[in-house]
Amino acid sequence: MSQEAILFKGIDEPGLNTLEVYKRRGGYGDVFRKALSTPRDALVTELVESGLRGRGGAGFSMGKKASFMPKGAMDKYLVCNADESEPGTFKDRELMTKSPHMLIEGMIIGAYAAGATRSFIYIRGEYAQQADILDAAVAEAYADGLLGKHILGSDHSLEMLVHRGAGAYICGEETGLLDSLEGKRGNPRLKPPFPANQGLYQGPTLINNVETLATIPHILGMGAAEYAKIGVENSTGTKLISVSGHVKRPGNYEIELGMPVREILYDLCGGIEGDREVKFYFPGGSSSPVLTGDDLDLPYDFDSMAKAGSMLGSGAIIVVDDQTSVVDVCLKLAQFYKHESCGKCTPCREGTQWTVKMLERIIAGTATPMDLDIMASVQTQIIGNCLCVLGDAMAMPVGSMIEKFRPEFEAYIEEARARSERELIASLEEPGEVPLVGSLV
Ligand SMILES: Cc1cc2nc3c(=O)[nH]c(=O)nc-3n(C[C@H](O)[C@H](O)[C@H](O)COP(=O)(O)O)c2cc1C
Ligand code: SF4
Repeated sequence: MSQEAILFKGIDEPGLNTLEVYKRRGGYGDVFRKALSTPRDALVTELVESGLRGRGGAGFSMGKKASFMPKGAMDKYLVCNADESEPGTFKDRELMTKSPHMLIEGMIIGAYAAGATRSFIYIRGEYAQQADILDAAVAEAYADGLLGKHILGSDHSLEMLVHRGAGAYICGEETGLLDSLEGKRGNPRLKPPFPANQGLYQGPTLINNVETLATIPHILGMGAAEYAKIGVENSTGTKLISVSGHVKRPGNYEIELGMPVREILYDLCGGIEGDREVKFYFPGGSSSPVLTGDDLDLPYDFDSMAKAGSMLGSGAIIVVDDQTSVVDVCLKLAQFYKHESCGKCTPCREGTQWTVKMLERIIAGTATPMDLDIMASVQTQIIGNCLCVLGDAMAMPVGSMIEKFRPEFEAYIEEARARSERELIASLEEPGEVPLVGSLV
């Protein structure tokens, strides 16, 4: 990238996970002290002006969300969403493993700006190693007076706890996460009220992704105006991206927002395995509508992805090459969402199950071309009709695959049907078999 790395700068330095090395590199230094003596409103304004948009999926302005937190002397909370459950996404894991204090410093400043005095890091249960690292870092911060009462003699006090989730995709959805954090089954809540008004234990709650919060000290360090110069209009700054699938060098990268997708895949990731072609890619995790090999020159930023009919989402690019069946990918995806649907609302609970059933029929050779139309219409009936966006998260990519690869689906249906008919006839011709009466299918 033309812009130097910000979050990943020197990330591989040995010992960076310790307070000693983090401080030696300037962590919890002048920027931190200055932030805690800046009026809260001024800090929020700074975050708004930086243009920082949430890095967890929805891309909402971080500063604006903080500004929604009500004033007044009630208990307020900051929750860090470290569930990282979107398939293809693994950037937060690297950040937490290598530089946990970057997140903690961001959270202390973020909590101060939001007026929160209690904070939680909700981390997925599978990230046991990262949870241990965070526990150790939080303990170090308490011992050093960076957490607890009157941080470094300031007016700001903050308690912080690392909470391990029990492993469900829906616990990454912010309100499902709050229920889970309260000890209940992680079911999404109706919105409004939004968490900033009524969140954890009914109190005002600011929820942000790991990367979003870890960016705060850097914004204050360079100043909002400088930060806003990085990237492109309406998509400022750098973004951690996770690239997986059929690329030669999968992994996490930090890019300046606006970098063309082609550069990401070919320059950073070394091109496609076996020098094959890109058939399609998910630009923002498995929930994003797919884009095709014709869409590689798009700039990778929030607005360009939306304009192309998809989304930047969590910044996870999953690449699928031209030798892979779109039907197989579609089934894998639908199976995941069917398994993860919490079942609370009908379009998602039934729609995900029906989609899987129809795809299984296609693969078994018992579907007709009409089933494809039914499957496409099921997706349109899910979108916008669910309690949370998990239903849409399946329907949007599945719908996009049918739309963009309809001839391949149709050919698959015909071939699978012909194959299953041949197999049935062959089995009937075997000696000793009793012939079936009626349709072959
Ligand atoms: C089904 C579902 C799963 C989600 N999983 C995550 C996740 O694992 N991590 C995350 O940060 N946001 C996730 N989100 C988005 C959160 O609901 C929320 O928008 C985000 O934590 C806000 O933080 P941000 O503004 O910093 O992006 C998910 C949303 C949905 C609908
Ligand atoms: S959309 Fe799915 S996951 Fe979300 S509330 Fe409805 S059933 Fe649950």
